[in-house]
Amino acid sequence: MRTKIKQLTAADIDKQITIKGWVRSVRSQKDFSFIVLNDGSTLAGLQVVYNAQTPGYEETLKRLTTGASAAATGMLIKSLGKGQAFELKATEIAVIGECDAESYPLQKKHHTFEFLRTIAHLRPRTNTIGAVARARNALSFATHKFFQERGFLYLHTPVVTASDCEGAGQMFRVTTLDDKKPPLTPQGAVDYTQDFFGRPAYLTVSGQLEGEAYACALSDIYTFGPTFRAENSNTSRHLAEFWMIEPEMAFADLNDDMECAESYLKYALKYLLETCPEDMKFFNDFISKGVIDKLEHVINSPFQKLTYTEAVEILKKAPKKFEFPVEWGTDLQSEHERYLAEEHFKKPVILINYPQQIKSFYMRLNDDGKTVAAMDVLVPSVGEIIGGSQREDRLDLLDKRMDELSLPKDDYWWFRELRKYGSVPHAGFGLGLERLVLFATGMENIRDVIPFPRYPKHADF
Ligand code: 4AD
Ligand code: MG
Repeated sequence: MRTKIKQLTAADIDKQITIKGWVRSVRSQKDFSFIVLNDGSTLAGLQVVYNAQTPGYEETLKRLTTGASAAATGMLIKSLGKGQAFELKATEIAVIGECDAESYPLQKKHHTFEFLRTIAHLRPRTNTIGAVARARNALSFATHKFFQERGFLYLHTPVVTASDCEGAGQMFRVTTLDDKKPPLTPQGAVDYTQDFFGRPAYLTVSGQLEGEAYACALSDIYTFGPTFRAENSNTSRHLAEFWMIEPEMAFADLNDDMECAESYLKYALKYLLETCPEDMKFFNDFISKGVIDKLEHVINSPFQKLTYTEAVEILKKAPKKFEFPVEWGTDLQSEHERYLAEEHFKKPVILINYPQQIKSFYMRLNDDGKTVAAMDVLVPSVGEIIGGSQREDRLDLLDKRMDELSLPKDDYWWFRELRKYGSVPHAGFGLGLERLVLFATGMENIRDVIPFPRYPKHADF
């Protein structure tokens, strides 16, 4: 039976165990070799002490190169060395899969994250990407825990959809039409009635619209799935495919939305610190000095709430010179968002009541007739981590807005019917999981916190 390294406890000392993993390093001395095996269950591997007197020693050692997979059996003992609790006194080591030392790309030297992206199939064997994967897992699990404990229902919204949730036209088309000879209409346009779905179809940019339908029946739901944006953003904060968590609450307003967002973020970060202390220490020591303190501070301080209008006043008076000028009515850029969270308030900020013209069509118009009940949560070093709103629940106002934006009302017929049949105030938000992982780990680039990143010109693996 194989034991994972993470499962080892003091109770296993002096017992016979088998561990399996990949060789991280081999250090040979006259009478012994010290082999570090890592199985990914924890950051640290287990040191295996291999006695030169063991039958087959020379032959096995030759095949135990960095990257090879192996099983080691023997007695777990208390480690005398520093930095590790146990080591394994091997009585037998079996090489499972050899690794060509000449060509193995993960040599012991330091590799850049850019290089590691070119070997995305092997990079999870590095300390950093392994730790990121475990942190991502913890944050995902915390997400389910948080919403389930609050009585939210986990909803699977479709990946293929006909409606553009954000109305921004940044969707990837899904088609089975022959790209060399698509059927044409008499007017010469591509005839999508002959396509697989009998109409144009796309990869979803958000599960919100479908989420609203279920919230308006089951009260509180959340989606957690892949979303796609065909925006040509080559930044360290954007992906073409990312995982979004979207709660939607019936009988809820913007205040309920803010409360939920703040509690959720704090809960997820606390869970990460509690369940991944070793990985968090690694990030703190090697990736982003002080990241643990930063998270503790976020968990322990109330988020700063202010209106968009107030934020614009602060930005206009800011001593900092921005690349993009700020005027009431313009969308805030990442530099503005980061200034507010990082430099001005030095903690997460929730901005509310944005001008209607810079936000999506479904947001509820405020009584001033100019702003909508939107909220963005901004955090230091990342900027926008959450975008949400109270939804426009009045059909006449929703229709008016769709007309102003020339959105095809027929395409949204069912969304509009939710306002016709038992409409209720409701609100929700979306959080990009990768932005949360970035923030929580202190990693620099969003491409390194998702296993196989998709961004312009990159869909390898
Ligand atoms: O602000 P967004 O566009 O809002 C929505 O999609 C709403 N439908 C959410 C809702 O109310 N249910 O996106 C929400 C979040 C952003 O705050 C950001 O964290 C993330 O999704 N996000 C991206 N993450 C990575 N790459 C991209 N290209 C992203 N676009 C948005
Ligand atoms: Mg947004």
